[in-house]
Amino acid sequence: MRIEISPKPRSEISADMEIICVVGKNFDHPWIEEKETLKLMGFEGEQDQTCMLPGSAQLYVGVDSLHHDNIRSGYAAAIKALSNTKISHVKTGLYLGKCPAQNVKAMAEGLILGDYVFDHYKSEKAKHPVKEVTIGCEDFNGKQYECEKAKKHLENATTIALATNYTRNLVNMAPDDMIPEMLALKAVSLAEENGLECIVLDEKGLEEENMGAFLAVSRASSHPPRLVHLTYKPENAKFKVALVGKGLTYDSGGLSLKPAEYMVTMKSDKSGACAVLGIMKAVSELGLDVEVHGIIGITENMIGGNAYKPDDILTAKNGTTIEVRNTDAEGRLVLADSLCYAQEKVQPDYLLDYATLTGACVVALGEYTTGLMGHDRGLKHSFSKAASNAGELTGTLPFNRYLEKLIKSDIADVCNISSSRYGGAITAAMFLDRFIEKEYKHKWLHLDIAGPAYVEKAWGYNPAGASGAGVRMSVKWLERTIKLANEERSAH
Ligand code: BES
Ligand code: ZN
Ligand code: ZN
Repeated sequence: MRIEISPKPRSEISADMEIICVVGKNFDHPWIEEKETLKLMGFEGEQDQTCMLPGSAQLYVGVDSLHHDNIRSGYAAAIKALSNTKISHVKTGLYLGKCPAQNVKAMAEGLILGDYVFDHYKSEKAKHPVKEVTIGCEDFNGKQYECEKAKKHLENATTIALATNYTRNLVNMAPDDMIPEMLALKAVSLAEENGLECIVLDEKGLEEENMGAFLAVSRASSHPPRLVHLTYKPENAKFKVALVGKGLTYDSGGLSLKPAEYMVTMKSDKSGACAVLGIMKAVSELGLDVEVHGIIGITENMIGGNAYKPDDILTAKNGTTIEVRNTDAEGRLVLADSLCYAQEKVQPDYLLDYATLTGACVVALGEYTTGLMGHDRGLKHSFSKAASNAGELTGTLPFNRYLEKLIKSDIADVCNISSSRYGGAITAAMFLDRFIEKEYKHKWLHLDIAGPAYVEKAWGYNPAGASGAGVRMSVKWLERTIKLANEERSAH
């Protein structure tokens, strides 16, 4: 699907169909020409409700307001409504509201995210009939908008939405296809295509780095583990960020085996790593002025004669000893070593990690919300604001000194599970905190994406399966943080 901006008024653009929004159930807006017919068809203008009028070549879609979330969702619903037609050229105009830049981007994102179908394993592929969308550069109120600006926003949104779909594709792949070596190869291809530096560590490399926790998790898998370190290093970097991702291509639970109904969907346990790859892709294509390191720990958590066990004591890269009491709490073990690696090799200004870490986070916040945790209120605040501007949901879960005590071990420095059944998302983060050096405490942000990364039922513009959670919010946060750094610099 190609999306382009046209300087022509909407009426002069030729297309097979026009997408028109009904805003806030208000049918009296001057751009709604078929008021009576719409009523007759039972169209009430509910958010995401669509009504196609082939005679007048119009597709109406309801949006509750001109908020970017509603525009994104509405355009996704519109493109979906066309998925079984033969309509190939669509036109529309702008719905600008309070923040024009955000709404132009939301429109493009809605179209691209809404058109996504994962049909890799289907004999019959999705048709995607719409090949071209022309956006007339005027607000529906008739006000002209600057074409060059609209083009810039469109380009930005397209890059980010395609990177999100790239992450969705990686996560949706079956675990026997997307084995650790394959995911590492995908990272290598991304590095080649986007001019990134790329280091891949195999088992021997992990041993040389003393990653005893990571290696223990990988031991029973017949597929060798990988740690990938990608670097995007532009000339005018304003600061340096390390993004660390959990890449469990499968999580059976290990010897603390998951029950059958909890094991399905655990191919999605690589979502953190795939989000990091999506962010690297977007950041390098946008040419953002920030040095970004993507570090992903990739392995499987399996069973077997040589599997690591409850009661084992592991030694992580920083020398911390870990008592294993549950092999299903494996993500934090892989992350512990990967976080140590990131601090030692990158010495970043910000350290973010992405992981489908705990079922407890899903219980706490619901399936659609990312759990944000860390020591720095400012960082958590700026990130959650960026996330909401990008159309993603976050909720902050607070640390406290009582929960911290629950991961004490009698025999080692720390235990890999909490002694309580409550507060599991936070105690998991507090475990990670044991691997954050003092000088990075306030630079670190932990994102538990266990809920939104993979949902078995479609939600909003997200289809059933992988959503690409983490990509849009992180790119938005990086853009904002760069902007702030520039403003601070020019103020001095
Ligand atoms: N990958 C899971 C967490 C998860 C659960 C992700 C549901 C997505 C949906 C993680 O490795 C895990 O198994 N965590 C355990 C931790 C427990 C043993 C302390 C959990 O959440 O039950
Ligand atoms: Zn697990
Ligand atoms: Zn896991």
